[in-house]
Amino acid sequence: MVPERERPRVFSGIQPTGSLHLGNYLGAIKRWVERQDEKESFICIVDLHAVTVYQEPEALRRGTRQLAALLLAAGIDPARVTLFVQSHVRAHAEASWLLSCITPLGWLERMTQFKAKAAQQQSVLTGLLTYPVLQAGDILLYDADEVPVGEDQKQHIELARDVAQRFNHLYGDTFVLPRPVIGEAAARVMGLDDPTRKMSKSAKARGHAVRLTDSDDEIRRAFKRAVTDSGREIAFSDEPEKAGVNNLLEIYRATTGRSRQQVLDDFAGARGYGDLKQRVAEVVIAAIAPIRRRYRELMEDAAELDRILRQGAEAARAEAEPKLVEVKERMGFEVPDELRR
Ligand code: TYM
Repeated sequence: MVPERERPRVFSGIQPTGSLHLGNYLGAIKRWVERQDEKESFICIVDLHAVTVYQEPEALRRGTRQLAALLLAAGIDPARVTLFVQSHVRAHAEASWLLSCITPLGWLERMTQFKAKAAQQQSVLTGLLTYPVLQAGDILLYDADEVPVGEDQKQHIELARDVAQRFNHLYGDTFVLPRPVIGEAAARVMGLDDPTRKMSKSAKARGHAVRLTDSDDEIRRAFKRAVTDSGREIAFSDEPEKAGVNNLLEIYRATTGRSRQQVLDDFAGARGYGDLKQRVAEVVIAAIAPIRRRYRELMEDAAELDRILRQGAEAARAEAEPKLVEVKERMGFEVPDELRR
């Protein structure tokens, strides 16, 4: 049954591949941290999603731990949030199979992220296509109402909602219908080297992204090189030629939490784009430097990290396993006692 809850439930996920960048931080992580008191939250390190593209095993292992430490360093509090690794909870892989059996192929072929990624590859792996079904299972197993994500994930969350609706229609009311919650500022942080492209982990160009582990000097340099335009006007704008300046202002707005008007007031007396870039770099450094320091400390305490992830997985299983039993019963599977909690 779809439960009634007083506090909305939040679920979100992040892949343990490559280094986290400012887009991940402003578009997702910072918002998870800010709302962790209001909501009952589940934050998942989605290692099963990561292997839809080949991962060197050692790099995946290391990346998973590094991401856990970075999320904690960024302020995710394991006393208030269930932070866990996806593969530690078997129900995710199982839910993915069950839901794939009610998801039309056409829905998956339509996903823009699949189309873009598939176009770059000679041989497309099945997991890349069914990736959003695994994601739907992640969310639906926890009865999450809200899914805070960056703009690029919106279509996947809408698909999860469609899958939930279809299941409920076929088998009776089982799943909560989730909705994407996209931030007002920095929903889509663009590359500093090319403000027409989303900042992404896979882009390798120098000066493309600011990583959460970058030194202060690296951050200053990346902003100094940021592409702007030949004008002088510091203003929010949808015009393609002002995309660079707009991106810098959006980064400043999301980092400081100030309104558009306050941001414009802050820059009213700025001396050109050089000044703008420098001041954006400084607010970003002020936000990121403490995270980097805390991350290093956390990485040194392997036992504590293990303890937090073990506790998170246990709490996640306590939610996901009974939900999976309900799903299987609805579908007509015999569920033996040993699979019940
Ligand atoms: P991932 O790991 O690519 O990204 C994690 C979060 O960061 C956001 N993000 C951005 N936001 C603003 N600007 C950017 N340039 C930018 N780049 C990334 C993403 O929108 C995301 O919120 N499929 C998901 C992971 C996932 C998931 C889930 C999310 C798996 N299961 C269930 C929500 C619910 C992904 O690959 O995110």
